[in-house]
Amino acid sequence: MSEHTGRVLRFSRGIPPIEAIPGDRLAEQVRAVLDEFGPTMFQYPPIGSYLGDPALREQLAKAHNADPDHIVVTTGSLQALDLLATRLLTGDSPLVYVEGPTYDRAARIFERHGARVSSIPVESDGMDIGRLRDRLRDEVPDVLYTIPDFQNPSGVTLSGEKRRELVELAEVYGFTVLEDIPYRRIRFHGTPPPGLGEIAGSARVITIGSLSKVLSPGLRVGYAVSDGDTARTLATLSEGVYLSPVPLCQAVAARCLRLGIVDENVARIVDLLRPRHDAAEAAVRAMIGDAMLAVPGGGYYIGVRLSVDEDEQSFIDRASREGLALIPGSAFYPRAERRPPGELFLRLPFQSLTPDEFEAGVGRLSTVISARTRLEGVNR
Ligand SMILES: Cc1ncc(COP(=O)(O)O)c(C=O)c1O
Repeated sequence: MSEHTGRVLRFSRGIPPIEAIPGDRLAEQVRAVLDEFGPTMFQYPPIGSYLGDPALREQLAKAHNADPDHIVVTTGSLQALDLLATRLLTGDSPLVYVEGPTYDRAARIFERHGARVSSIPVESDGMDIGRLRDRLRDEVPDVLYTIPDFQNPSGVTLSGEKRRELVELAEVYGFTVLEDIPYRRIRFHGTPPPGLGEIAGSARVITIGSLSKVLSPGLRVGYAVSDGDTARTLATLSEGVYLSPVPLCQAVAARCLRLGIVDENVARIVDLLRPRHDAAEAAVRAMIGDAMLAVPGGGYYIGVRLSVDEDEQSFIDRASREGLALIPGSAFYPRAERRPPGELFLRLPFQSLTPDEFEAGVGRLSTVISARTRLEGVNR
């Protein structure tokens, strides 16, 4: 096989393209916040179960139709996930169900907290609820973690029908659902199904949100919407480690929400990414056939499942020699699970590549595939 000499194309990190971050608008808000609050922005934040900037929680509460005292602000949503793991995974050998595939960092957090992490496969309309029902008859998890909208890494969205079934199962069997929704507003096509938190209207579902994909990941503003008791516990846990998220970042985020800058930016991001999504979908269809798990219609990722006759690392190495950087799909599964031989999952992020770059990347992928492998879609 040829050693590629051109630029490496990266189907690797899922970070926003820099042009999706409203740098000038953010700089204006930093100035305005400093004019309004002065040096208190550089003082320690309050302590004593401090849930975060009240103005920010008020804005988030409006967006989620929730009580501001049920919201705790965290340093990025990953921090919320880590605090929730501390709060919820307290038994001897806690069990967490995740989607297969799932967000790799989330799986690693649960594993670090000593949980047995087990995956339920995703279908084109989200987690296989029939499979979940079977698994629940054997063992009820402490927590079920889901990314219901434009899932990282598969791009799949959980259907409205399955959302209602999942909430009902959580009520019947008594487990907590963590829904992680960073991509929910990055929708290019169709209408959104209701959030799991909206359907449940109870503490059975905890919603984890983030401003990383709609405003700025560098602000590190995330949050959890739960109940008053859980919110205070998470605040106390965070106080024991880092007191609270950065005051300046929270105040800037609050202003951006209040002044409609987040809404404007979401509209801008959708306009920027829609053509990338549409071109990416067309390129995958044309060059690697029916291997897509679903047409995402939003978010950052297209997931593909391939039938292969070689091991994953060898495939990744061959792609690298073609000038294509891929993340091994097994990273998106629990560490304790062995992937079935002959099947390969790949995440193809389209948000940071131009249509031409994405198409060139898929072209290289199809070269790698056709050298050794047979394509097989899961949706036929
Ligand atoms: C599903 C999911 N959850 C959480 C995060 C991390 O978000 P934050 O920047 O708010 O920590 C990401 C980032 O890619 C993500 O894809």
